[in-house]
Parts: sequence; structure tokens; C-alpha cells
Amino acid sequence: MKTVFITGGAGFIGSALIRLLIAESDWRIVNIDKLTYAGNLESLGAAGKDARHIFSQTDICDRAALDTLFAEYPPDGVIHLAAESHVDRSIHGPGDFIETNITGTYTLLEATRAYWSGMDEAGRAAFRFHHVSTDEVFGSLGTTGMFTEETAYDPRSPYSSSKAASDHLVRAWQHTYGLPTLITNCSNNYGPCQFPEKLIPLMILNALAGKPLPIYGKGDNVRDWLHVDDHARALRLVFERGATGATYCIGGHNEKTNLEVVDTLCALLDKLSPRADGQAYAALKTYVADRPGHDKRYAIDASKIARELGWQPQETFESGIEKTVAWYLDNPEWIAHVQSGEYRHWVEKNYGARS
Ligand code: NAD
Ligand code: DAU
Repeated sequence: MKTVFITGGAGFIGSALIRLLIAESDWRIVNIDKLTYAGNLESLGAAGKDARHIFSQTDICDRAALDTLFAEYPPDGVIHLAAESHVDRSIHGPGDFIETNITGTYTLLEATRAYWSGMDEAGRAAFRFHHVSTDEVFGSLGTTGMFTEETAYDPRSPYSSSKAASDHLVRAWQHTYGLPTLITNCSNNYGPCQFPEKLIPLMILNALAGKPLPIYGKGDNVRDWLHVDDHARALRLVFERGATGATYCIGGHNEKTNLEVVDTLCALLDKLSPRADGQAYAALKTYVADRPGHDKRYAIDASKIARELGWQPQETFESGIEKTVAWYLDNPEWIAHVQSGEYRHWVEKNYGARS
């Protein structure tokens, strides 16, 4: 049985990855998460209570706490997802992004290097440090072209710059110290348990509450959407079979304008949960001031991971988005706990001394 550290395991993608790994592997997972506003252990469902899931409420900037975890649960690898992840927040207050995404990644790399240096030769050779990153490090595309593993870095928001810095640190630790690292750069994720400040859950919850659906600018910015479970499957594959030192781009081949996404959500809600007053949800669409420095278009060429590791997304946007809307309709308790702030007390109620 492997022991794997997963940072950010109470977040949107980390919780999906842990649900997958607890269901489909025999690995022991040490979930290292500070539980910021974005951390929600309720998202882990049954996996959160599995004996192979160990939760530690730890800040990745806390070197001493990380050293203790490495000593207590010697891991075979680390999958690093913990980050400040919301572009709008990074524009309003970049400090936490610099701290967690850059200093936190540095601290985790150093704690990992100290542990890895003390392993025997076979352990060192088999060890993996997998850094989970974003396509936003590549900047913004015009109407044509796609990001590949060879695309030059050109980050343009405080969030994407901090993620780019963390990517560079990870590569430097590989190049300088020989730490076996992997990096994945993924496009926009959607699916269950996403914190409702990102486009898709925000639109679903606002629509259900009869609130305006705020569309930045003209709604013509393009994102390449991937279901979070497809991302989780890709992360497992890269962690297990990716070549050390390599980078893999992950994307869903689902380019949509924001307006297309909002219209799709409105049409699905009209079908699955019609408004009591008989009006269409699309009547709630509201154009608001654009995001400062708003990247125009992202699109991923995912042919390397397809060719080398055989990964393909299982969900199309049409199948995945309908399941996602249905999930939010079927999980009013998760939503109520997020909206009331109740989810922040979940750790004390359910984990007590384990945290
Ligand atoms: P999220 O904001 O939902 O979750 C982040 C998690 O990290 C939270 O549980 C939070 O509590 C934890 N965290 C934050 N600061 C921490 C710290 N200092 N120490 C320990 N834990 C801390 O983010 P997400 O959408 O799940 O993204 C996960 C990772 O994937 C991030 O690194 C992000 O950059 C990357 N990514 C996200 C997307 C996307 O569309 N959401 C796409 C590509 C890459
Ligand atoms: O591309 C990967 C990135 O995708 C990840 O690295 C980030 O962690 C993740 O948050 C996401 O970043 P975006 O900025 O693309 O996601 P967001 O959901 O914030 O916005 C998606 C698009 O929708 C973007 O063009 C801005 C627009 N938008 C967003 C919100 C919240 C609106 O028009 N209205 C809104 O209210």
C-alpha cells in the first residue's frame, strides 16, 4: 500500500481526487489542508471517513508541521494542489496568493527534499512530487492556436503569476537537486463541490435564488472546460506513469464562450427546475464591468497526455454539465452549509482530535 500526501485535499479538485483514490486504489492518503474559506471537508463524502484517509489541518507554509507529517507518515509521493485559486480574489488581494502559492510551494519543496534526501536509493528513485498547475501560466490566446507543453510562460494576473512562479520553483528543484518532479497544467474545471464564486456554480446558485447572473464584459471570453473527475483521472495517471521531469497539459477540448456556458446552464435549469413564475432563467443575465486584465481565450492541446499515457476525457461538456447541474439540484444540504458558513465547523464536528 502506497502512502501519498495530497495538499489541498479539502478543495474542489483535491476532494475529487481523494474520492477517486479512496474508491479505486488501496493507497493511504494524508490530506494536508489549511482549510481556508475554500476548504470543505464535507466535499469528501464517505472518503473523508475512510480509515485510509488521514486529515491534517496544516498550512503548507509551516515547515515544522510538514516535517512532523513526513516523519509520522513517510510517503511514497506528494501531489500538491493546495493554492489560492480564484483570479478575482487575487486581483483584490494578492498577498495570500504570494504567500501560499509561492512561499508555500517553496516550503513544501524544501520539506520534501529533506525527507527525500534521507530515503534509501530505491525509495529516492521511486519517489514523485507532482505539482498541479494551471493553463493560465501561458497567458492569453487570440482567436486561434492552443497551449502546449512548449508554450512560453506569459502569466498576466496575480494568481497566474504566482502559479507560474511555483512551476519554476518545482522545475528548479528537479534541475538543481534531482528531486523527481512532474507538472500538470490544466484548463478550467467544473463539477460537483466547486466553491460558488467560480463561474459555473455561481451562475447555478444565483439562478436558483432568482439573483442576477453577472457576465463580465461582453461574455465573449473563451475557456476550455474539463469535468473535475476527468482531471482527477488524469492526475492519477500522471502521478503513476508520467516521466519524471515532464510536463503534461490537460484539457477537455471544450472551448466555450462564457455566454455559451451561461446560456447552457439557463436552458438546463429551465428543463430540470423551471422557475415558479414561468420566466426563463436567461432573463436574469446581467452584463457587468469586465475583470481587470481579463484573459481572452484559453485552449489546451492535450495530445501529449493522450499519446504517451492514453488519457482521454470521459465526459463531453454536454454530458458533464447536465450531471453538474443535477448534482447542485440534488445536494441542497452541501449548498446550504457553504452559504451559511456551516461547512467551516464541519471539521470540529466530524474530526475533532484528528485535525
Ligand atoms: P480550491 O480553491 O477549491 O482549493 C484549494 C485548497 O487548498 C483548499 O482546500 C484550501 O483550504 C487549501 N489551501 C489554501 N491555502 C493553503 C495553505 N496555505 N496550506 C494548505 N492548504 C491550503 O482550488 P481548486 O480549484 O481545487 O484547485 C486546486 C489546484 O488546481 C490549485 O493549485 C489550482 O491552481 C489548480 N488548478 C485549478 C483549476 C480549476 O479550474 N479549478 C484548473 C487548473 C489548475
Ligand atoms: O484555466 C484554469 C483556471 O480556471 C484555474 O487555474 C483557476 O483556479 C480557476 O479559478 C479558473 O480561472 P478562471 O478565471 O477562468 O475561472 P472563473 O470561474 O473565475 O471565471 C471563468 C470565466 O467566467 C472568466 O472568463 C471570467 C468569467 N466570469 C466569472 C465570474 C466569477 C464572469 O463572467 N462572471 C463571474 O461572475
